Amino acid sequence: MKPVEIKKDIFWVGAVDYVSRDFHGYSLSPQGTTYNAYVVKDEKTVLFDNVKEGFLSTLLCRLSQVVEPEKIDYIVCNHLEPDHAGCLPELIKLCKPEKIYCSPMGKRSMEAHFDIEGWPVEVVKTGDSINIGSRDIHFVETRMLHWPDSMVSYIPQDKLLICNDAFGQNIASTERYADEVDRAVLEHAMTEYYHNIVLPFSPIVIKTLDLIAEMKLDIDMLAPDHGLIFRGDDVQWCLNKYREFAEQGWKKRAVIVYDTMWHSTEKMAYAVASGLESEGVPCRIMWLKSDHHSAVMTELSRCGAVIFGSPTHNNGLLPNVAKMLTYMKGLRPQNKIGGAFGSFGWSGECVKQLTEWIGDMGFEMPVEGVKVKHVPKHDTYQDCYNMGVEIAKALKEKCGE
Ligand code: FEO
Repeated sequence: MKPVEIKKDIFWVGAVDYVSRDFHGYSLSPQGTTYNAYVVKDEKTVLFDNVKEGFLSTLLCRLSQVVEPEKIDYIVCNHLEPDHAGCLPELIKLCKPEKIYCSPMGKRSMEAHFDIEGWPVEVVKTGDSINIGSRDIHFVETRMLHWPDSMVSYIPQDKLLICNDAFGQNIASTERYADEVDRAVLEHAMTEYYHNIVLPFSPIVIKTLDLIAEMKLDIDMLAPDHGLIFRGDDVQWCLNKYREFAEQGWKKRAVIVYDTMWHSTEKMAYAVASGLESEGVPCRIMWLKSDHHSAVMTELSRCGAVIFGSPTHNNGLLPNVAKMLTYMKGLRPQNKIGGAFGSFGWSGECVKQLTEWIGDMGFEMPVEGVKVKHVPKHDTYQDCYNMGVEIAKALKEKCGE
């Protein structure tokens, strides 16, 4: 396991987690992920972030090829979530750093995670900087990207932004740079990461991108703490991609998300899809017994309409649908049209409850939901088809057609 020199005397010393498919306990990381850490060698040697518990030996293996750990002078904690600070107590014991830098909220987070008595913690805020010899490190707080404690570190002499969770992707591979992998693979991984991790903070992303522009930060490398590093022209490509994600413009595409007991609701899904298709709106049908809630969010990133199907079960929704709605609502997607359908046996609350969820998420619902007792017949299929047509028309209008 070798360190990678990403700039002169600046090294990636992180760990690749090829195994984990569970990102932060709620999202899917289909390829695994990386926990990136960086070390800068100057008059003072600085370690930026560290790795998840269990990966300390990997970090130390790479780090010790660059510098003896006890020669680390400063540790910068851009974020205290355990995937970036999980080995902090062991590293402090080993390195005995002169200073540990974090944001004001970072200090609170550090106190809540660890016993920090005797740690040489130094709080830094946006606008603060330190000199480490031939380089300066400027700190910029990026609250809620991804936690209140998050910050990024900018080294102007190297045009390098060490950006923590921002601009990450869950890619576990031997490549270190975004320009070394297939662009479609990279874009999919960025989309998946953004729409499952960063999406609720989109207004903050826009402000942060504006701040980067205002501060005229000259950046030729973005080094995130998950996945691949962006360099050269890819830096602006990545910033543009984030602005596009954050703005969440209308898109002429739909996704139908459902679960089913005896396949009545499933059959209705196909009729809704036919209606959408007849109006030239492409759609994907996702069955929640096969499709993970993270995959639905990734698909939703391409869609302006989301149509939910659930039978009534014990006066409510099927558990997979309720789980999906809870997850989606928390991620706060914007600019969506919603729709609802489902079958029932006797009480029939499904469509009413789906409609309430759709309203709670702030989605527009141009057509009433469709429900059917037990098994759909021709009339119900027609109603579902018509619902697809009406949603498609409303969506095309939003898209300016
Ligand atoms: Fe990758 Fe918010 O931790």
